[in-house]
Amino acid sequence: MGKDLIRFSVAVPEGLLERFDEHVARRGMQANRSEAIRDLMREQMAEQDMDDPDTEVVGSITMVYDHHVVGLSGSLDEIQHDHMREIVSTMHVHLDHHSCLEVLAVRGQSGRIHQLADLLLGTKGVRFGRLACVASTSAIEAGH
Ligand code: NI
Repeated sequence: MGKDLIRFSVAVPEGLLERFDEHVARRGMQANRSEAIRDLMREQMAEQDMDDPDTEVVGSITMVYDHHVVGLSGSLDEIQHDHMREIVSTMHVHLDHHSCLEVLAVRGQSGRIHQLADLLLGTKGVRFGRLACVASTSAIEAGH
């Protein structure tokens, strides 16, 4: 770990702590309260950072669509070409005769990434879609 850790005490209702401990236990043998609380703190701050459209984020956009919908593949392609700086890598899986799964690894300004996700997932024919991203500072630089 190598960084100074500071201990502090927190007052919480007993029932809440019991439920939290159960939640931590579900994460496995190596999980502990401190690590779970550190994760929650990082998550909260990362979410706040994302409100700023200039924040650098990393993440993925997942979508499932029917490639038979007229013009859909072309539209999705057009949007991706307009955001080629933000798209690091793309994976395309042909799920069955109709359906395609596409996963995009993305990196860039929060505003641009959200715009990209909104455009892709808002395109008619995209049946399922999700953006998962986190501020780079929280994901990469913060460490433990
Ligand atoms: Ni396909």
